[in-house]
Amino acid sequence: MTSSLKISIDGKPERIREQGRRWLCLGLALAWSAIAPIASAQQDAARGRVLYETYCSGCHYEKLHERPRARSLVKSQADLRTQVMRWAPQTMHSFSSEEIEAVVSHLNRSHYKLDR
Ligand code: HEC
Repeated sequence: MTSSLKISIDGKPERIREQGRRWLCLGLALAWSAIAPIASAQQDAARGRVLYETYCSGCHYEKLHERPRARSLVKSQADLRTQVMRWAPQTMHSFSSEEIEAVVSHLNRSHYKLDR
């Protein structure tokens, strides 16, 4: 006797119900794996914004990041990281590498919008 032959109250074979549950679990796991990185990137950017506003806006406003692309020093995410690392030591704060990344993430989302 296998479980596939058992019939549950609503008439559906137990095995089908079990498969349904398995798909639901898989679906939830996939949804979570898609959402979790986005949620953490958003947290990063939010933290980056606070860091930027606290330590970087002594010299320039975020308006600086809106200058025409041709005049900007930032053409890629790597350039952006280079600039953030270049200026971070000029602040009163000693930035960790996570904090650098958070600021990069904030500025890229709020201004540069570079894919790479
Ligand atoms: C001591 C003053 C000063 C501080 C503090 C400072 N910056 Fe700047 N930053 C500048 C100046 C001046 C420029 C323009 C340099 C140029 O055009 O050659 C600049 C340029 C930049 C650029 C390049 C802008 C572009 O699109 O070309 C980025 C990105 C940047 N800063 C990020 C930051 C971040 C992030 C912080 C805080 C960690 C920070 N800066 C702190 C003075 C400062």
